[in-house]
Amino acid sequence: MNKIEQLRHNFLADIEKISTLQELEELRVAALGKKGELTLLMKELGQKTPEERRTIGAELNAVKETLTNALDQRKTQLEVDSLNARLAIETLDVTLPPRPVLKGTIHPLSHVMDQAIHIFGQVGFVVAEGPDIEEDFYNFTALNIPLEHPARQEQDTFYLPPSSADGQPVVLRTHTSPVQIRTMLNEKPPLRIIAPGRTYRSDSDATHSPMFHQIEGLVVDTKTHMGHLKGCLEEFCRHFFEDPNLKLRFRPGYFPFTEPSAEVDIWWKGNSWLEILGCGMVHPNVLRNCNIDPDVYQGFAFGMGLERIAMLKYGIEDLRLFFESDLRWVGYYGFEPESRE
Ligand code: DAH
Repeated sequence: MNKIEQLRHNFLADIEKISTLQELEELRVAALGKKGELTLLMKELGQKTPEERRTIGAELNAVKETLTNALDQRKTQLEVDSLNARLAIETLDVTLPPRPVLKGTIHPLSHVMDQAIHIFGQVGFVVAEGPDIEEDFYNFTALNIPLEHPARQEQDTFYLPPSSADGQPVVLRTHTSPVQIRTMLNEKPPLRIIAPGRTYRSDSDATHSPMFHQIEGLVVDTKTHMGHLKGCLEEFCRHFFEDPNLKLRFRPGYFPFTEPSAEVDIWWKGNSWLEILGCGMVHPNVLRNCNIDPDVYQGFAFGMGLERIAMLKYGIEDLRLFFESDLRWVGYYGFEPESRE
């Protein structure tokens, strides 16, 4: 094998062996670069006889072409290999679920409260508020529940130390009804308010929590009657439970602050009556306690448990779940912040 033949043979073998583009480039420079072996041989041609120049020159040119082609081919092959390797590593499994994006949800109770406010808001009710720590007067006395009244025992009241100002007993409000009193004492009728908020009773099991929520309603005007009460609650329940034919049943009941009083049941899933709220016409004593003349004004009022209607609407079985702050539960039963049903 002559020198040129040898060179061709070696380079072709080397080209087969390399495995990176960088090695390929080094090899190209070693053969065909300015100081490459083949280039040097070509430069030496100048010292040869014309005859030699012709034959050796042709041979060198042929080798150059062979090597250039071999390098090109190997380059293409290395590029394809490296692309395939990358594709293998960077595969994207489009069947995987989207990455879990951490986001907050609206607690079902907040959602239900928003819904109730929205529904009543559409017929002119405005939201009123009162304190969670309430004076005995607003929670009981002014609501026609005097000291010796048995309703006080029934409510499992949390008593706090009497206020130092006037020695008045202070309680955690057992219902949202004291907001009725505060509203009637502070504003002139006509009145049309709802009062959603926290309430407290010393009671705890699957259907009772020491802290729970109610929504209170109060309407006071000159011609308010039981028909208004019925229509208002019927409309609310049908909107809230999203059933335009929902049946309601008004059962005679007793509350010291209303006369007559009623308890309202809804016909649930075609198989049972479920009690959802208490209501009635505001007792004349309550109006009088708030300096409203019962011969001029009448009112109706109602109060319902928010957990109760939330549990019914969303099929939540245990009341305690509302307050456990279990993120999996809130994630499942919670609502998208932007959704407004
Ligand atoms: N305050 C009552 C309770 O906690 C519910 C209630 C009943 C509120 C009748 C009312 C009403 O305003 O008229 O059980």
